[in-house]
Amino acid sequence: MMAPDTHAGAARAGGALVESFIDECRRAERQSTELADLVLSIAGRMRGLLAEAPRFLTPAHRRADPAHYARNAVHISPGNGISLFALVWQPGQWTPVHDHGTWGVVGVVEGVLQERNYSRTDGHHGRASGIELRRGGITLLAPGSVSTFVPNPDHIHVTGVPDDAPPVLSLHLYGREMNSFNIYDADAGTRRLIQVAYEV
Ligand SMILES: [Fe+2]
Repeated sequence: MMAPDTHAGAARAGGALVESFIDECRRAERQSTELADLVLSIAGRMRGLLAEAPRFLTPAHRRADPAHYARNAVHISPGNGISLFALVWQPGQWTPVHDHGTWGVVGVVEGVLQERNYSRTDGHHGRASGIELRRGGITLLAPGSVSTFVPNPDHIHVTGVPDDAPPVLSLHLYGREMNSFNIYDADAGTRRLIQVAYEV
């Protein structure tokens, strides 16, 4: 067992790793004119961050919730800037159908995260009703995998873990504080913005 001062030193080193990653992402954000180029440049950095995950993830980042997937904040920038979360998924926990209205970079630390993609086919992307969705392909993200998205205009998806799969721990970086997103009711053909909570 580590001595308390060693714990504190490890926590400082872990915090510095995250700060450095966020600083690099902010620099990339300033230098990119296309969001597709931005997520391309951050994807490799996320791979590096995944390799360092044991050094900065704390027990608080690993908190699960039996009621739904857990959203644990790792870094929230002031002024609605970049945010980084550790999400913990128990078997059978899924998001609703949603989009984030911003860019994102996802990396998996433990387990296999499933993403199911949808295309909006009604052609009226600004409207919140009369929405037609078509199911698309899926992606299985294993430890070390990175997935990115940009809002062109939507990136509509469901993410989660099947009932018979092990739990998942994943890192999610977004272009703003992720405290709200659009959720879709595919049967009703509607979408609405909801507030989403997170643990700090
Ligand atoms: Fe998402």
